[in-house]
Amino acid sequence: MKIAMIGGTGYVGLVTGVGFASRGHDVVCMDIDERKIDGLHHGVIPIYEEGLDKLLQEAWNNKRISFTTELNKAVVESDVIFVTVGTPEGKNGKTNRSYLMSALKSIAQAIDSYKVVVIKSTVPVGTGHMAGNLFKKYVKDPSVTYDIVSNPEFLREGTAVQDFLYPERVIIGAESEKASVIMQELYKSFDAPIIVTDIKSSEMIKYACNAYLATRISFVNEIAEICQKVDADVSMVLAGMKYDKRIGGLYLNPGPGFGGPCLSKDIKSLIHIGKKAKANVSLLKSVLKRNEVQIKNILNTIQCELMGIEVKKVAVLGLSFKAGTNDIRNSPAVHLIDKLLDSGYHVSAYDPVVRNYEPDSKGSIIFTQSARETIQEADCVIIMTEWNEFKELDVQDMNKLMRTPLVIDTRNILSAKLAHEAGLHYIGIGTRIQNVQKGNRSRTLSFRLSGFSAKNVTTQNS
Ligand code: UGA
Repeated sequence: MKIAMIGGTGYVGLVTGVGFASRGHDVVCMDIDERKIDGLHHGVIPIYEEGLDKLLQEAWNNKRISFTTELNKAVVESDVIFVTVGTPEGKNGKTNRSYLMSALKSIAQAIDSYKVVVIKSTVPVGTGHMAGNLFKKYVKDPSVTYDIVSNPEFLREGTAVQDFLYPERVIIGAESEKASVIMQELYKSFDAPIIVTDIKSSEMIKYACNAYLATRISFVNEIAEICQKVDADVSMVLAGMKYDKRIGGLYLNPGPGFGGPCLSKDIKSLIHIGKKAKANVSLLKSVLKRNEVQIKNILNTIQCELMGIEVKKVAVLGLSFKAGTNDIRNSPAVHLIDKLLDSGYHVSAYDPVVRNYEPDSKGSIIFTQSARETIQEADCVIIMTEWNEFKELDVQDMNKLMRTPLVIDTRNILSAKLAHEAGLHYIGIGTRIQNVQKGNRSRTLSFRLSGFSAKNVTTQNS
């Protein structure tokens, strides 16, 4: 089939385009961003996504994929037109559909024969029908027919290629038999159940999924906090929960809170949609609120643990919102760094993929080229992203390098036991903090203090 991806250089558009091309379809990725299209013509991929380069190269060699800035040509020459443009957060959580509407209008004006127009961007419920009305207004030739379809994506950054090639399900929101058949044909080579729904239900499925995932994360973060306060260990609690098939073990990793461009934005949008429809959205609001508490808790821990110490440097390991991506949008690490800088801490940061960025807050920050360099002379190391490189950190070496041996591991990727044995004061999320360790810590910290007496510190920790 001939496919156009409008917004075809972003995470969703490019991965979907390359993915369909790898399944033997002819794909044209269209984008108004000339720089990115030009880059793609020269082999420069604008996003970091594992496996994408290889698949793109193959599709390019097989002449299955092309790139253009010309929307009309891409639309006219395709049977199915995917819209994958961004739908960012607008005011009060309302989704900003301006890019989407503008793309849809251009498509409507361009079509000259039957097309299936598929909305893949995450959109408020009712958008598909709005698109239908827009088409009625802007399609030039009244004899030209079309169908609007909703086909939400479930790609996770970092594993998007695999998620596309091996989906767990395909959702098709179609209200005409013709469009439904075409879409099922398109996905027939994928080994996944296809669920056909009406357009609104399909749009809602996407929000319900992301809201549910976020709810699990907020839930486990709350459980982790309670664990820590009652001296239980969240990893043991989870080990006991996950064998219950009704619960399972996925999306229950405690951490610094969910980040990235999707979960928060989609929950806010769903709250907005629900409120507008006069539905009770109190649970969704709590999920969001709980998420905001995570970073505040981490900052509080740093402030309490380092109280009385002349803090020279806080080392942040990891900047991207999770491992496997270079995306720092709504990254917990970035939010924490802003708060650290606002509170006057000197920050050094390292990420294996994100080399640097411009923080919103003014303050003292340096970006280093290695984890060791960041850790050197630090008063506190905070692990924010679960990169494999950090899982292999040598705790003995860390203790030697650090000025004050406080390690806050927001991803629970280091062994608390080994860290403790290496003399580090280790704090995970929901992991047990051993009293013995606290005692050791006051000695270790006081030993390394400059300008404070050992007595001060011991009193503070006892
Ligand atoms: C999410 C969904 O998982 C995808 O299905 C969806 O297609 C995508 O949004 C989207 O709407 O486009 P993504 O944002 O890439 O994907 O990332 P996730 O892997 O879901 O992680 C989101 C955040 O939750 C990250 O900050 C991650 O570190 C955090 N997380 C995830 C946890 O804190 N604990 C967990 O157990 C899982």
